[in-house]
Amino acid sequence: MSLPLRLGVNIDHVATIRNARGGEHPDPMRAAHVVEAAGGDGITVHLREDRRHIRDTDLDSIMREIRLPVNLEMAATEEMLEIALRYKPHAACIVPERREERTTEGGLDAAGQHNHLAPMVTRLSEAGIRVSLFIEPDARQIEAAIRLRAPVVEFHTGKYAHSEGAEQEAELRRITNAVALAAKNGIESHAGHGLTFENVQPIAAIPQIAELNIGHYLIGEAIFIGLEESVRKMRTLMDLAR
Ligand code: PXP
Repeated sequence: MSLPLRLGVNIDHVATIRNARGGEHPDPMRAAHVVEAAGGDGITVHLREDRRHIRDTDLDSIMREIRLPVNLEMAATEEMLEIALRYKPHAACIVPERREERTTEGGLDAAGQHNHLAPMVTRLSEAGIRVSLFIEPDARQIEAAIRLRAPVVEFHTGKYAHSEGAEQEAELRRITNAVALAAKNGIESHAGHGLTFENVQPIAAIPQIAELNIGHYLIGEAIFIGLEESVRKMRTLMDLAR
């Protein structure tokens, strides 16, 4: 049986465009309201250490004004932990973060960083925040998530999105198997990174996936068809695949 599939819209790149000119336009808050009106199920923001897109003031406005659940993507640092505990978003997705990378390249090494992550997962969970770990679709990382008692994992779909043909099919199988292993162990699966109108459906069709988080492509498409239409079209494609 398929779970309902939620769409979390990552609005980071509205802030990227705003920051290119240093002013207030386009406003990520306005984007969050459009996502709400267009049938998005959640707002995702990544407050990066270098604040290259979303800023603390954006998070503050979003947490005060938006009714949709907020998913805060965060590096496993004391600074971000403190911010998450202060705002208590619905969810916090722990991601790897390197200052020089263009985007989140590759999943978190939950297995290698157990001792560093364990107290963070515990403190976030105790604050009522639903913790997810952004990992590769890999049994070793899922086993680490189980040991860390993370209720959710988000599978990195970057390799799937950036490959084609047999390689893409193999990656889709890897994700399908990983989702099944997570489900067997009572962990909810999310997925995201690099998803587009063209490649979303095979991922959306995996029955145990509960949420997709999609950003760059939706904001890029919004330039041509508007943000509301971009979100609606993605929602429709996801529903049709289910
Ligand atoms: N999920 C996570 C954990 C991410 O870090 C990102 C990228 O910020 C996304 C989903 C969305 O990826 P994209 O912007 O390529 O849709």
